[in-house]
Amino acid sequence: MSLSASEVNILKHAPAVDGVLPVIHQRWSPRSFAARDVTPADLALVFEAARWAPSSNNEQPWHYIVGVRGSETHAKIAASLAGFNKNWAPNAPVLILGLAHSRFVRNGNPNTYALYDLGAATALLVVQATALGLATHQMGGFDRDAIRTSLGIPEEYALGSVIALGYLGEPDALGDAELIARELAPRTRKPLSEMVHSAWGEPARLG
Ligand SMILES: Cc1cc2nc3c(=O)[nH]c(=O)nc-3n(C[C@H](O)[C@H](O)[C@H](O)COP(=O)(O)O)c2cc1C
Repeated sequence: MSLSASEVNILKHAPAVDGVLPVIHQRWSPRSFAARDVTPADLALVFEAARWAPSSNNEQPWHYIVGVRGSETHAKIAASLAGFNKNWAPNAPVLILGLAHSRFVRNGNPNTYALYDLGAATALLVVQATALGLATHQMGGFDRDAIRTSLGIPEEYALGSVIALGYLGEPDALGDAELIARELAPRTRKPLSEMVHSAWGEPARLG
């Protein structure tokens, strides 16, 4: 027998560490989304969090195209999904495309930090969503040419990720053994010693 949505949610939380914001450890990327809609007020809150991200020159190059279930935009984003993303992500009540203006508005020069800044904004967005009890799953697996054409996005806007957003659903509702196994699989991370260095090749001594 599989686990319920609330059981799997607890299983997927990273171990709490005193002093780290609990929402950071509670965020994870599910593939099963419940039928429940997200309110416009909650959607506004997740974008409000993204809005206050830092960016190079305070350019704020990020844009988000939001499709709620039943809309033409949701259908277009869903149609662009690639591979196995097609099998689960269209069930999310909200699909969001993140994009970044790749030129500085003031002089037209390339902004090489545009996607970096979009990533920072999206990190705040997903943490805020977690704080509201929402689940998010970012995807790089979508057809970029198809979505650019169907949504009419100009070339100077770089495409980031598609974000599925909604409430966590029951794992069994995925209806596919491989997807259910992934939903229940433990989450892993490299240790701090592999990512923080006191000099190149030397792990920093922390704590
Ligand atoms: C830029 C980006 C692209 C991703 N692309 C996909 C994708 O196409 N399909 C998918 O199922 N998950 C995708 N993911 C989700 C990652 O696999 C997931 O974040 C990672 O395994 C860590 O799991 P966690 O988010 O639950 O901590 C993507 C995540 C990011 C940030």
